[in-house]
Amino acid sequence: MARSALLNVMVNAATKAGRSLTRDFGEIENLQISLKGPGDFVSQADLKAEKTLRDSLNKDRPGYSFLMEEGGVVDTGSDHRWIIDPLDGTTNFLHGNPFFAVSLALESAGQLVAGVIYNPITEELFTAERGRGAYVNDRRMRVANRSAMDECVITTGIPALNKQGHGVALLEQRNIMTQTAGVRATGSAALNLAYVAAGRFDGYWEDGLSPWDVAAGMLMVRESGGFVTHPEPDGSIYENGRILAGNEVVHGKLRKILTRPLPDGMSRS
Ligand code: IPD
Ligand code: CA
Ligand code: CA
Repeated sequence: MARSALLNVMVNAATKAGRSLTRDFGEIENLQISLKGPGDFVSQADLKAEKTLRDSLNKDRPGYSFLMEEGGVVDTGSDHRWIIDPLDGTTNFLHGNPFFAVSLALESAGQLVAGVIYNPITEELFTAERGRGAYVNDRRMRVANRSAMDECVITTGIPALNKQGHGVALLEQRNIMTQTAGVRATGSAALNLAYVAAGRFDGYWEDGLSPWDVAAGMLMVRESGGFVTHPEPDGSIYENGRILAGNEVVHGKLRKILTRPLPDGMSRS
């Protein structure tokens, strides 16, 4: 499959950033046992990967705006905006667990037009372009077509100590684990979405996310024939950080569970 010029630019940037992360991931094992621990080192790895992405994209497509997890907003007034998470799955990376990825999306006139998610350890490259489908290592992706909930494996994110909504997350997990073949928490929102696109998970939901966690993956799921929305009909993923993905049937069934009113006294914040 011949890749478009745009995807070539994005893949080039993501694989360069991935090489930098792979080198640093190799150091983590040594740092685990040092007294200082790997925390600072990981923030440096993050920043380095983001700089690599930014430099590479600026060179190939000068003047575009950026929304970056580490560097924040760079608004050039351009109609095009890169949305970047240089390392999604930081906690996994920090613990020497190879489930993390570079996530990179392009928005043009407010619409997602392309996305790349790259796990440099497994060397899996997920790509999508609006109207042109989604691929994993150049193989076409399709969401799974299961519809019976008792056969479905659903992935989610479990809020860590610095997040809110632990009680609600537990309630939602309980409501979903009692109807499905299994609930998983992988620690990477971007890879969760890429795996839904690839049909490896039947659905995904999470709260407390940022645009850079999900932008590329959202396009990927849609281009694989799946549905991605906020669970509430008029909610905004970017504004509220809540997301729900799956094939049409699973998405609908999960939506029913996730929009049940919360018990008295329980709230998301
Ligand atoms: C995190 C991961 C994780 C999700 C968190 C995110 P980071 O991103 O996507 O799966 O549960 O909410 O913040 O910090 O590893 O880039
Ligand atoms: Ca992230
Ligand atoms: Ca990150």
